Amino acid sequence: MNVKESLLKAFAEADGRYISGTMLAEQLGVSRNAVWKAVKSLESEGYIIDSVTAKGYRLSGASNCLSEQLISAKVNASVLGSRIIVLDETDSTNNYAKGAIENGTENGTVIVADRQTAGKGRMGRSFISPSGTGLYMSVILRPEFSIQTAPLITSAVAVAAAEAIESLCKADVRIKWVNDLYLNGKKIAGILTEASVNMEMRALDIAVIGIGINVRSIGDRFDEELRQRASSIQDECGAVLDRNALCAAVINHLDVHLSKIENREYLREYRRRELLTGNLITANVGSETFVGKAVGIDRNANLMIETENGTVRSLSSGEANLCRIVK
Ligand code: BTN
Repeated sequence: MNVKESLLKAFAEADGRYISGTMLAEQLGVSRNAVWKAVKSLESEGYIIDSVTAKGYRLSGASNCLSEQLISAKVNASVLGSRIIVLDETDSTNNYAKGAIENGTENGTVIVADRQTAGKGRMGRSFISPSGTGLYMSVILRPEFSIQTAPLITSAVAVAAAEAIESLCKADVRIKWVNDLYLNGKKIAGILTEASVNMEMRALDIAVIGIGINVRSIGDRFDEELRQRASSIQDECGAVLDRNALCAAVINHLDVHLSKIENREYLREYRRRELLTGNLITANVGSETFVGKAVGIDRNANLMIETENGTVRSLSSGEANLCRIVK
C-alpha cells in the first residue's frame, strides 16, 4: 500500500473523527510532510478532506470518490470482498468480471465502477450508469451449493441489497419480483445475475452477480420517461449515502445470506418486502402475456399467480408488473 492508500485506510478506520498529522505520520511510518503531500494529492483526485488546526484531518462526508481502501475497511465478510477492484469506468462491471474470471480471479472478488458506458439490465435492457451517482458492482461467486439452489441467488441478493440500504438510512425498501428494489413506488436498484453451468457435474460453475443502485440525486441524467419509473435513494428519502459504505454493507449482508441460502431463511424477508403479492398483475413469459393475481412467493422464489380460471401458475422467470392494487 502506498501513502495515499494507507491514508485512506486510516481515514476509514477513524470513521469521520479527526486524526492529527503527527498521529497519521506515526501510524503510516512517514513524515508529516509526506502526510500533507498525500492529503493534497487525494484532494486533487476529488476527495474532500477537512483540515482543522489542532485537530488534524478527516475525510469529509461530502466526499464521493470510490476507493478500494474505503470499501475494504468496512467489509467484515468471510469470502466476499476478499479482493475489491475499483474502476473509474468500464462498459459493464459484469463484463469486466467475466474477463477477470478468465484470468483466474478468485472467488468473492468484487468489481466496482464509478460509471458504466454500457450497463446491462435484465431482458437485454440497458442500465443507465452515470458517474458519481450510483453504485455499480459485480460479485464473482464460485458457489458451493447445488444447482437447485442457483435460482435463489437473485432473490437473496435483493434482500441483502434492501437490508444494506436500510442499515445506512431510514427507508422502507420494497422488492418487486424478482429483483427490482423500490422506494416510494419507484425503482431505485436492479440485479442482473449471469451464471455458467457445468453440465457434466450438474453444478453451478460460476455466477456473476451484478447490482446497480441509484444512490445520489439523478437530476437530468435520466430522460423524462425513465424518471417516471426510476429514481434514487437521495431523491426518494433525502439520504446522501457514501457509496463505499453502501458497497461494504451490500457485501456484508450478501455474505450472510449466501452462506445459509439453502435454509431459505431470507425468503421470510423477501416475502415481507415483495410488492406484487396480493395485487392484480400482468405477467410476461417469453412471448406469452397473461393477467392474474399475485398470491405469493414459493420456496424456490417463484411468483405464484392465480389466473382468471382459478389455476395457480408458478413463474420462475420473466417479468411481472402491477395492473391494479387490490389490497
Ligand atoms: C435490471 O434492473 O434489469 C438489472 C440491472 C443490473 C445493473 C447492474 S450495474 C452492475 C452490473 N453491471 C451491469 O452491466 N449490470 C449490473
